[in-house]
Amino acid sequence: MDVSKIRKDFAVLNKEVGGRLPIYFDNACQTLRPRQVTEAVMEYYESYPACAGRSVHKLATEVSLRCDAVRARAAEYFNAENPTEIAFTKNATEGLNTVIFGSGLAKGDEVVTTDYEHNSVHVPVLELARTTGVRHRIVRSAADGTLDLEAFEKVMTRKVKLVAMCLTSNVTGYTLPAKEIVDIAHSYGAKVLLDAAQAAPSRKIDVQALGVDSMAASAHKMCGPSGVGLLYVRGELGENIKPRIFGGHGVTDTDITSFKLLPPPERFETGLQNYSGIVGTGASLQYVSSIGLDEILDHEISLNRRMSHALAGLDAVSVVGPSDPNQRGGLFSFNVKGLSAHDVAMILDNSKNIMMRSGMHCCHSFFHSRHIDGCARVSVYIYNTNEEVDVFTDAVMDLADKFSPGA
Ligand code: ALA
Repeated sequence: MDVSKIRKDFAVLNKEVGGRLPIYFDNACQTLRPRQVTEAVMEYYESYPACAGRSVHKLATEVSLRCDAVRARAAEYFNAENPTEIAFTKNATEGLNTVIFGSGLAKGDEVVTTDYEHNSVHVPVLELARTTGVRHRIVRSAADGTLDLEAFEKVMTRKVKLVAMCLTSNVTGYTLPAKEIVDIAHSYGAKVLLDAAQAAPSRKIDVQALGVDSMAASAHKMCGPSGVGLLYVRGELGENIKPRIFGGHGVTDTDITSFKLLPPPERFETGLQNYSGIVGTGASLQYVSSIGLDEILDHEISLNRRMSHALAGLDAVSVVGPSDPNQRGGLFSFNVKGLSAHDVAMILDNSKNIMMRSGMHCCHSFFHSRHIDGCARVSVYIYNTNEEVDVFTDAVMDLADKFSPGA
């Protein structure tokens, strides 16, 4: 993987901010976008800025064909059997909400999640339970956020109709044993919905090999534009899922008193879509695939090992998540004794242009259940370098010296 070549594709990495180049370590929030993606977005606006699936003129036909091609590319990316199993949404959250609320769950049914879900799973399931009486069962993970399959199996019963879990945690970087989860869930007759937002940018996901029923991801975490999500629903299962939004394009026909929904994926794509974002997503999938997911994950883990080893001896620095960097992908979540997570992030931003996220990362329940106030989170991606890691680890060592001497 040629990181210096990759860096040339990202204009912002080559522009000084406040007198020095940025060190962008907030990739779990959203990655940067290469020029191949921004050019594809611009090309839409400049060359075929029309609407897909409606008008029959040439420009509209061009948009329809382009969107179909992106759908096919996304299907290939996840090894879906058929492009019609992929719907475009606004983000992973919309896809997750669609399945959680649209699956017809009712009082007497149970939904299983973990105690480290992103709010995009946790909150809709809480709301589903509040409004329908569906029982929400939560699998407790270990202190480091890893999941024990025995703990999972303990909560499973034939009443569980949906298991909704994040494939890779956006707090710890831990990736759950998805195949085992799917197999256990299926043995109880439950369907599985995976939140793949944090996994899709750097892990090969083969939905057919996993046997997963549905899955959602966001383009903005994999070099794509903001405002596009990908929802996978296996085969005819989509026919039994109601959309979250009703209106134009999602229906085959209406009369004064009734309507008939289109089959998936169109039923999940009601209203005018984010066409520039969709074509940009096609460019991002192509970009990421051309680098190679195995190479990307190896690169992330190698940077993570470097930073983890450099900081391992510091008592003032505590890692949130598994201690082994190989289990954390590109994520290094941590606290420095004597400082709040926001202080750490702001000091490193001001002093070194290191950009990271701090707080509870939309996973409040993870932190509350462990009585932690939050953490600072470094998340690396394809353009990050050993030199950037060294600037970061030196700066954290200085912080530890200054704010927790003797720790
Ligand atoms: N889920 C995103 C993050 O972890 C927003 O930062």
